[in-house]
Amino acid sequence: MTAHWRNPVGTLLGVFVVGVAVLVALLLIRTYTLAETKRVWLDKGALEAELTQEEREQLLEALKGAIRIPTVSFSETEQNNTALAEFGQYIRKAFPLVFSSSLIQHEVVGGYSHLFTVRGSDNNLQPYMLLAHFDVVPATPEGWEVPPFSGEEHNGFIYGRGTIDDKNCVIGILQALEFLLKRGYKPRRSFYIGFGHDEEISGNYGAMKIVETLQSRGIRLSYLLDEGFAVLDGVIHGTRRPVALIGTTEKGQITLNLSVEKPPGHSSMPPRQTSIGILSEAMSRLEKNPMPNMFGNGPESSTFEDLAGEFVFPLNIVMANLWLFSPIVSRIMEQTPSGNAFVRTTTALSIFNAGIKSNVIPPIARAIVNFRLHPAHTVEEVLNIVRNTIMDEQVVLSVVKAFDPLPVSPYDEENFGYQTLKRTIHHVYSAAPVAPGVCVGNTDSRHFVNLTDSIYRFSPIVMKPEDLSRIHGLNERISKEGLEAIVQFYYQLIQNSDSEKVPGPHHIPEEL
Ligand SMILES: *[C@@H]1O[C@H](CO)[C@@H](O)[C@H](O)[C@H]1NC(C)=O
Ligand SMILES: *[C@@H]1O[C@H](CO)[C@@H](O)[C@H](O)[C@H]1NC(C)=O
Ligand SMILES: *[C@@H]1O[C@H](CO)[C@@H](O)[C@H](O)[C@H]1NC(C)=O
Ligand SMILES: [Zn+2]
Repeated sequence: MTAHWRNPVGTLLGVFVVGVAVLVALLLIRTYTLAETKRVWLDKGALEAELTQEEREQLLEALKGAIRIPTVSFSETEQNNTALAEFGQYIRKAFPLVFSSSLIQHEVVGGYSHLFTVRGSDNNLQPYMLLAHFDVVPATPEGWEVPPFSGEEHNGFIYGRGTIDDKNCVIGILQALEFLLKRGYKPRRSFYIGFGHDEEISGNYGAMKIVETLQSRGIRLSYLLDEGFAVLDGVIHGTRRPVALIGTTEKGQITLNLSVEKPPGHSSMPPRQTSIGILSEAMSRLEKNPMPNMFGNGPESSTFEDLAGEFVFPLNIVMANLWLFSPIVSRIMEQTPSGNAFVRTTTALSIFNAGIKSNVIPPIARAIVNFRLHPAHTVEEVLNIVRNTIMDEQVVLSVVKAFDPLPVSPYDEENFGYQTLKRTIHHVYSAAPVAPGVCVGNTDSRHFVNLTDSIYRFSPIVMKPEDLSRIHGLNERISKEGLEAIVQFYYQLIQNSDSEKVPGPHHIPEEL
């Protein structure tokens, strides 16, 4: 004791060294146990589609033909209805077995959307559902290597609007089913396929009518798969190989209308502040005071923990120990727009209107702000923060549209949908690690929350960093191998979904 008193610095140093050693041990233990508890599906999975040369060409042509039909959603209220109808005729011709099979019932829903019911042999198994959409955002030829609706091939890629969002999935699902039927496949578990025609403008007439139809029949789904994340190759900084993210939730949204009304007047005798000044100040306060960083309060931390073992040293230790490092990680993430979207509710000032004439004090100024809600926020909470930030009674707020973040779908080791997806991803994408993720955009799947708690958002495509800007951007494209992998994925997934429950690690699936 006394010796220690005499040398307090030495004691402190000793305590510090022991402390650091314990901490390092804890960090390492967590790093390696986290990496080990994740299941890797080693089973061979279901039968692969051994495509003939002729079938490969058929698949290519099927996608190219789909791209050439300009199923554009121009605005909230305007779509190319001729093209939407033509698309329906097109798939009937391109996939004759799907449309003639006695196992399959086809319906047109909401004017142009499609619903297929594929009858399985075992009524005790709860059906699942595959969802995709065939409307696309507009594209003009400027800046494209080939015209966006030509469906032309260039350097081994098929270019065109819809090649990754989302006609690739529509054609992939139909082609996989067509090939399965051709090989005599009969499903055990029933399933539904839904193709929405207005996803890019909210899905109010497509997906929502499909939901109404299923609900009126009392249907519950074991799981639902829609577009969303992908196999990310080099997209997540510091990962050593491609990793697959499955979206288990989506951010919520608020579109908020702000307006300021003041008596009009002449610009020769302006008031101290006009409607423009008042509204600009409010807007500026919103931008200068971002919503709180909420990293670690939502499922986004599972993304990093599940992938911890995939990061290069020392990021692997950091990610496995977010209990300690999340303040640092969250600060680093908020530096980029995409990382920032992950850690907080984002605030985007998107429309600003005021003024009519240079010598008139404008009577009204209006603006629209779009918020995307972090999974741990609610619409009510965000609106409260907005009111407290603006703190000005002259600014009138009205909500144009709002919905809470989507419920988080389960992703535990026993969950049938998640594990079936994981198993299929492991098979098709060289055992790529799989983790849950938060989608920052919205999909048609959000309309299905009353039909199942297991909604997953994953497109079976590989995305590299340079591909991200192609979504809704220039030179959207898919490689020929990428397209075949999509078909393989759905071909496997449909067969894997015939299992009764999550099979054990050494399960050998039945032959067809
Ligand atoms: C709408 O689609 C049809 C083909 O279905 C096409 O001929 C027409 O040019 C398209 N209209 C517009 C405005 O893109
Ligand atoms: C926003 O509010 C103003 C004033 O109340 C109204 O005139 C305008 O139509 C609103 N805009 C939207 C998109 O709701
Ligand atoms: C789900 O059901 C609730 C309660 O009936 C309803 O209020 C809600 O609008 C439904 N959600 C969707 C997306 O259909
Ligand atoms: Zn899409």
